[in-house]
Amino acid sequence: MTPAIAADVNAGKAKYATCMGCHGAKGQGGMGPALAGQTTAAIEMKLKKYRNKEKIGAQSALMWGMSAGLSDADISNLAAYTASLK
Ligand code: HEC
Repeated sequence: MTPAIAADVNAGKAKYATCMGCHGAKGQGGMGPALAGQTTAAIEMKLKKYRNKEKIGAQSALMWGMSAGLSDADISNLAAYTASLK
């Protein structure tokens, strides 16, 4: 199946620069949970929840601010990038 809009891993990588401080250069986690090893769908779902100001964990309010400016394309690119991290 070919997605209508192909996610751009390189664009996701560029966006991820602002996430690295908390989620680790390799998505291994740090102050925030590990993102590496999660599926594209899981990351997209969580980022969209945060953007809607929905709670996932105790510190979700922190991610509300981080996700507020992300477009749907930004989210799929970020998810494609973090899913590629090992
Ligand atoms: C200031 C630190 C910080 C920054 C910067 C940050 N995050 Fe987070 N992130 C967190 C914390 C803390 C949580 C846990 C929030 C909760 O309790 O729901 C989290 C949760 C997440 C989750 C859900 C993980 C899970 O498995 O529950 C995703 C996905 C995520 N962040 C993606 C990103 C992306 C993408 C960026 C960059 C646009 C980013 N974060 C920037 C700290 C940060």
